[in-house]
Amino acid sequence: IKLTLDDLHLSNEQLTKIMKKMIKEMHKGLGKDTHDDATVKMIPSYVKSLPDGTERGSFLALDLGGTNFRVLLVKIKEGDKLDGKPKIEMDSQIYRMPEDVIVGEGEKLFDHIAMCMADFLKRLDLLDQRLPVGFTFSFPCQQDGLDQATLITWTKGFSAPGVVGKNIVKMLKDAIDRRGVSLELTSCLTIYGQTFKMMHDMDVDIIAVVNDTVGTMTSCAFDDQECMVGLIVGNNLVYLTTFLCTGSNACYMEKMSNIERVDSDKGEMCVNMEWGAFGDDGALSEYRNEYDAHVDENSLNCGKQLYEKMISGMYMGEIVRLVLVKLTDDGLLFGGKGSDALRTRGSFQTSYVSQIESAIPSGMTAVQNILATLDIGAMRHDCEIVIQVCRAVSRRAAHLCAAGQWSVVVSIALHPEQEVLRMTCGVDGTVYKKHPTFSDIMSEKVNELCAGADVAVNFALSYDGSGKGAALITAVAQRAINAEQ
Ligand code: GLC
Repeated sequence: IKLTLDDLHLSNEQLTKIMKKMIKEMHKGLGKDTHDDATVKMIPSYVKSLPDGTERGSFLALDLGGTNFRVLLVKIKEGDKLDGKPKIEMDSQIYRMPEDVIVGEGEKLFDHIAMCMADFLKRLDLLDQRLPVGFTFSFPCQQDGLDQATLITWTKGFSAPGVVGKNIVKMLKDAIDRRGVSLELTSCLTIYGQTFKMMHDMDVDIIAVVNDTVGTMTSCAFDDQECMVGLIVGNNLVYLTTFLCTGSNACYMEKMSNIERVDSDKGEMCVNMEWGAFGDDGALSEYRNEYDAHVDENSLNCGKQLYEKMISGMYMGEIVRLVLVKLTDDGLLFGGKGSDALRTRGSFQTSYVSQIESAIPSGMTAVQNILATLDIGAMRHDCEIVIQVCRAVSRRAAHLCAAGQWSVVVSIALHPEQEVLRMTCGVDGTVYKKHPTFSDIMSEKVNELCAGADVAVNFALSYDGSGKGAALITAVAQRAINAEQ
């Protein structure tokens, strides 16, 4: 058992090597000539300024990146006179994404999104208002502007054909246009002596496309000026379908002079790292074990998103399951018997890992109950081993994530003109929120590793971050557009 658990341990020395490799990849991603070969794409987000508290108005936010699609109405209003901070009111609705929409033709996916938007606006009686839209689209996109995003590749189990390489803002606009038009009497179109105007059933203006990390960072920055990093571990999903996976990614404010693919040297811009793909060139091979290889081989995107597969959501449960099967086969667990359920891919949900680690060691009933759902009658000794395996897997994930965070901190803190002593990282995601120790282990490790750089890193949990952040980014952009006009 010890040998098996050792396989899941990463020493500080190893984490340091991982951090250095990540930094190398980050530089490649930022460089003009090296970008194409980089696994960590470092995508410029075109988010340059963060909200300053003077933003006001109503915005529509769309959030796509998990099993559900969310539409939000975000109202930024005048706040209390006392603290001077604006008040944010939100209403939202979750729309399920049917499987045939996620993997079916791309146009259908956008038709579905447009349909949900129209339904939401109709329910709030807002169909006739022209609303600025912020679209949180949590997949790697090449951005050429805040409202210009071309999908590079699908991740997390999405695979709708006909979207990769396309401008997703245009796809959404086209879908809105396809939703029929209504004719209203007015002065621009004359048919048989009558004048009509073509009306869409909703009138929206897509201002910004943002990654969920960028939205999360922005919404935290609204409350905390020191927030300059965004992190996602897992998604806002509580129940995962069997084929959708959760992701991990980070973003941070980078000096423009370091982002060679953007023609400007002044100020900063948020960079969406897309760190999930770190290791896809073999950089992590010495740290990956037989369980990681198995998880990857049986995934929909084999060979891709290897770092993400060691950290986030569904994969964590699957890695635990594979270790338990191995220990059972070696005769070290469950009397060597196991069950068909245990041998079924995806049967060990990540939420089990959280529940098992929350169980008090002396009261094994919770662990036994979970194992019973997998047709396993576990003895006390078995339960203790299962707890140890869960701990080892989640600790490794938290440490790997800490190594990634460390590379971000080093990049920010070691910049010659910068003197950053404290920084906040806004975090979202089921694993971070629900797992009993992941957040503490990660934050302790980051601060332990960063001690040499003299930076204190604070992690702030974000609620509704990506939707709220998309609305705030839209508000900032709208203000700039209005100022130009
Ligand atoms: C995947 C996506 C990335 C997203 C992350 C978290 O890694 O590629 O864009 O931020 O999942 O949702």
